[in-house]
Amino acid sequence: MTAIPNTSLPESAKAHIAESVERLIESEGIRLQSQKLYPKTAAGLRLARLEVALTIGAMDVVEHAVAIARANGATWDDIAKIAGLSSRGSAARRFGSLRGSENETPARAAIRKLNRAKRAKNDDFRTRLVDVEKELAHYPDAFRGKSVLLPCDDVDGAFWHFFDANFDRLGLTSLTATSFVEPGAKAPWAEVAVRNSEGTSRSSLDGKGDFQSTQVQTLIAAADVIVTNPPFSEFREFVGTLVEHDKKFIILGGMNSATNSGVWSLIRDGEMWLGATANGGAMPFIVPSDYHGSNVRFDDEGRRWVGVGVRWYTNLDVDRRHAPLPLTAQYEPEHYPSYDNYPQAIEVGKVADIPADYSGEMGVPITFLGRHDPDQFEIVGFSRELVRENGFRVAGRALYDRIVIRHAVS
Ligand SMILES: C[S@@+](CC[C@H](N)C(=O)[O-])C[C@H]1O[C@@H](n2cnc3c(N)ncnc32)[C@H](O)[C@@H]1O
Repeated sequence: MTAIPNTSLPESAKAHIAESVERLIESEGIRLQSQKLYPKTAAGLRLARLEVALTIGAMDVVEHAVAIARANGATWDDIAKIAGLSSRGSAARRFGSLRGSENETPARAAIRKLNRAKRAKNDDFRTRLVDVEKELAHYPDAFRGKSVLLPCDDVDGAFWHFFDANFDRLGLTSLTATSFVEPGAKAPWAEVAVRNSEGTSRSSLDGKGDFQSTQVQTLIAAADVIVTNPPFSEFREFVGTLVEHDKKFIILGGMNSATNSGVWSLIRDGEMWLGATANGGAMPFIVPSDYHGSNVRFDDEGRRWVGVGVRWYTNLDVDRRHAPLPLTAQYEPEHYPSYDNYPQAIEVGKVADIPADYSGEMGVPITFLGRHDPDQFEIVGFSRELVRENGFRVAGRALYDRIVIRHAVS
């Protein structure tokens, strides 16, 4: 049993805590700050996850946890109790984005979230240098003799800082960054900064720095590797551009972007995969002072932070893809039911429970993608593409999205 103290946690700790608590929840019964003991049943674990999400205040995780709990029969009373709210009405209001969502599917929830992100223009999330360093340390030779383009970045951003500071060590031939002028912003034009063997120069772009503009598209076409955190709400279009230009890339995107149309087929077909780090929990970002999400936290300097569930997406080889999952579970029919609406696959609710000895199709949580070694497993499909409904069901119970895999034949 584990007790999580009732303490307000710094943003930087949240992702790690979310990840390790998730592992604890999966391994044993758990007592959280409410001091309620959640049994190690599926329902108990779902409610425990929800309490963890609320405790660490990562709204992305909270929304996901609430949606899952609701889809699996948790009442607003249950959620109010865990959230320490006085009534089911306040729980429904507090998670207002989920109001009236009794029958909301994960797909609809994702679309609603995307639309909301667009409306709020909450694309300006600043990546921390430490997160950039952590991921890019896994590509020691990917930039040697290469030109690198940062197409959604200015020289004050973490990506420019990283490559500028490591230009010689990584062996870059050139580094280019193009900034973007938000609609209605005071700055009249965007900037392009270039560092090469002659030094660094900065000049104006003709337009606003839109990655779809001719000028930036020309820079994309000329670059060897594209690295950035692009606007979350335009992730699909951004990936489409990179694929169109047949570019190597390392980019950040929402954790659910993997299964979005236009992106999923690339993952399924092994043309793009998840990077080495940030494969669990939320990553903290600095947001502009006019950002007013319910999930904002302030640091000592008054800066606003939010935690967002993101992943690195890349088509460059990375060590993580050659590290097979250690498998200890054995297949036992009573522990692995098949799906009502896709009977050729069995349900494996946790990545750690993938049976070593089952040769058929297995449905696993999306978190599997962060552990996928293509020499160990092949990806068959994604629950929402394999059935015409909104996902798999077991004994009438709707499940969150599943990736269907099977052991690779060597
Ligand atoms: C998620 S933020 C990340 C910012 C920066 N890359 C970083 O990692 O700190 C996405 C950035 O893309 C910029 N942006 C939004 N729409 C864009 C577009 N159409 N073309 C290029 N950049 C865009 C925004 O101004 C914002 O700064």
